[in-house]
Amino acid sequence: MWPLCGGMLLLMHALVLVSAQFPRVCVTPEGLRSAQCCPSPFALENDPCGASTGRGQCVDVSADARAHGPQYPYDGRDDRERWPLRFFTRACRCNGNFSGFDCGRCRHGLTGDACELRVPVVRRNVMQLSAEERRAFVNALDQAKRAPHPDLVIATRRYPEIFGPDNSTVQFENISIYNLFVWSHYYSVSKTFLGPGQDSFGGVDFSHEGPGFVTWHRYHLLQLERDMQDMLGDPSFALPYWNFAIGGSVCDVCTDDLMGARSTFDTNGISSNSIFSLWRVVCESVEEYDTLGTICNSEIQSPVLSP
Ligand SMILES: *[C@@H]1O[C@H](CO)[C@@H](O)[C@H](O)[C@H]1NC(C)=O
Ligand SMILES: *[C@@H]1O[C@H](CO)[C@@H](O)[C@H](O)[C@H]1NC(C)=O
Ligand SMILES: *[C@@H]1O[C@H](CO)[C@@H](O)[C@H](O)[C@H]1NC(C)=O
Repeated sequence: MWPLCGGMLLLMHALVLVSAQFPRVCVTPEGLRSAQCCPSPFALENDPCGASTGRGQCVDVSADARAHGPQYPYDGRDDRERWPLRFFTRACRCNGNFSGFDCGRCRHGLTGDACELRVPVVRRNVMQLSAEERRAFVNALDQAKRAPHPDLVIATRRYPEIFGPDNSTVQFENISIYNLFVWSHYYSVSKTFLGPGQDSFGGVDFSHEGPGFVTWHRYHLLQLERDMQDMLGDPSFALPYWNFAIGGSVCDVCTDDLMGARSTFDTNGISSNSIFSLWRVVCESVEEYDTLGTICNSEIQSPVLSP
């Protein structure tokens, strides 16, 4: 559940085509069949990606077309191959300082109507936050744990089953901002389903054991930070960082004003003085998803354990 990250001031200007999971507005049966996700940021007719105001344009998504490496001996079995082409082949490319799936937001670290104003986003050491700043951070996380994500939804079935048993009930669910952060991590590392009764293939992991490890996790945290900025209406909100070396073998952020102390009654649990003792885990039944060929949904499961 660690929302903290190592690193210093980080301003990243990444090209966002279709990030994380999919915009709710795009996953209608018609939207999926068109394989195009180019909504208008102002819900206007004939305004894909805010083109009428110069925000962006709808383009073909290009993905690496080279053959898979020897570590992945399949082709066409996993929805994540050449992401996101299985679902969408056209998406928004935003101009200038605009960003987001519909070019309706600003790039990280910018604000204003034309996204022309810089906003400093300062990543501070969590141990140096004041009591009030700690409270605000913990409360913001708790709000993110409960607030439904305003724009994105998660797929709960693989693409071959995405239109549902009746071929018109698309298999997507709402999820909270924080749970989407958890889900995205789960989805990126989940196994490849090869068919009923067969072992799922665990030989690929899209965010670890490769050169993308560091950048993927940075981007993942930036997504959460962006969502929390929008949720709070504060474009300067920053996740703090945790220098885990300082505490040595002691968990120095495991206090009730930060990530929660260990419960004195249940040594696996989090102290009831911490808001995190009320949190419930998502994406826990990984073996079940792998066996059934389903995908984690937004159901909450066991309490969070203390580290
Ligand atoms: C983008 O933002 C920067 C920083 O404020 C600004 O200098 C620049 O003019 C902006 N670019 C556009 C195209 O608005
Ligand atoms: C599902 O619906 C689409 C669009 O109406 C149709 O083209 C397709 O053949 C249907 N598939 C099945 C398996 O019925
Ligand atoms: C998901 O959230 C949207 C937007 O808040 C809402 O319109 C929709 O009814 C929700 N869907 C479900 C299944 O709860």
